[in-house]
Amino acid sequence: MVEFTVEQTTTPTSAEQRAALMADPKFGRVFTDHMAVIRYKDGQGWYDAKIIPRQPLQIDPASTVLHYGQEIFEGLKAYRGKDGAVSLFRPEANAARFVASARRLSMAELPEELFLGAIKALLKVDRDWVPAEAEKSLYLRPFMISNEVFLGVKRANEYLFIVLASPVGGYFSGNGSIPVWVSEHYTRAAIGGTGEAKCGGNYASSLLPQQEASDNGCSQVLFLDAKERRFIDEMGGMNVMFVRKDGSVVTPPLGGTILRGITRDSILKLGRHMGLTMVEEPLAIEDVFKAAATGDITEAFACGTAAVISPIGEFRRKAGSVAFGDGKTAGPVTMKLRNALCGLQRGEEADPFGWVHPV
Ligand code: PLP
Ligand code: COI
Repeated sequence: MVEFTVEQTTTPTSAEQRAALMADPKFGRVFTDHMAVIRYKDGQGWYDAKIIPRQPLQIDPASTVLHYGQEIFEGLKAYRGKDGAVSLFRPEANAARFVASARRLSMAELPEELFLGAIKALLKVDRDWVPAEAEKSLYLRPFMISNEVFLGVKRANEYLFIVLASPVGGYFSGNGSIPVWVSEHYTRAAIGGTGEAKCGGNYASSLLPQQEASDNGCSQVLFLDAKERRFIDEMGGMNVMFVRKDGSVVTPPLGGTILRGITRDSILKLGRHMGLTMVEEPLAIEDVFKAAATGDITEAFACGTAAVISPIGEFRRKAGSVAFGDGKTAGPVTMKLRNALCGLQRGEEADPFGWVHPV
């Protein structure tokens, strides 16, 4: 086990300040006092593992990440159960996906024990920042940048891995169902591209279509396949699932262009365990519009670490919109899955899968 040196902040947030910050943290605006850092150099490997006060980075302007965008990240949450215990949900799956993302971006591959070790060491010093309320959690953001000082285009030989922690509430403002914009022009990822990697570039290219979504009153953008613009891939920052009128749940298959969502995988397994029919098959956007209009698809929801399970009220596109159910309230299957997933993540339900990882 790698030892992390710990440098505590000399200006810790007081308990009162923390309570005020955590009262309504929203998403990604409040940060804890510390961060985990590990460095890497070719020939030397991973070194200088430490917990330090959260602070700005000093980066050379010729640092490769600033020019060629070698950056990957993860997102997972620490939950506090009713008994006060803190746990992570499938963190080894995030560690494995981080390695896969690093490989695709030709970056150094961080061993799982360092990924998990950094998170645990950070949680040791910033444990009080894990909220107790059911709708809140401590969002963890491990990420890695290349930082060799060099302007040639090549795989960098130096990397910086950091974990930030941020107490969060819901990702979307408001509690209702979200409207989703179907991007008919811009796509997210082509076969053979980086769609399956969790790299910053995928999100940079999603921002213009996300703006188009906002301009049309929508909270998220839905991407179609890049070849035919016919089949549903996923949304800007979450996977998507539908409920058919027979109660079965259907989601697009993993084909290399969408993120292998850990929430998606958990819902598929949990749903099967609950006796639901869970199907992975391609969904043509035209068929979904028709099925929603005829009532053959009754519910739709977004799923992801930040989104948890968020009901989708309607899909909008240039030619018009279609609502799922009444377009406002979360459907019964969506809520059943959401309650089961949240209960498991918070340690309130039995965990037959061994997913809950006490820390
Ligand atoms: N798809 C995209 C593009 C995402 O950014 C995310 C969020 O991490 C997901 C799907 C869901 O993945 P996970 O459930 O592992 O958070
Ligand atoms: C996550 O859910 O962890 C993400 O990275 C998605 C983003 C919309 C915050």
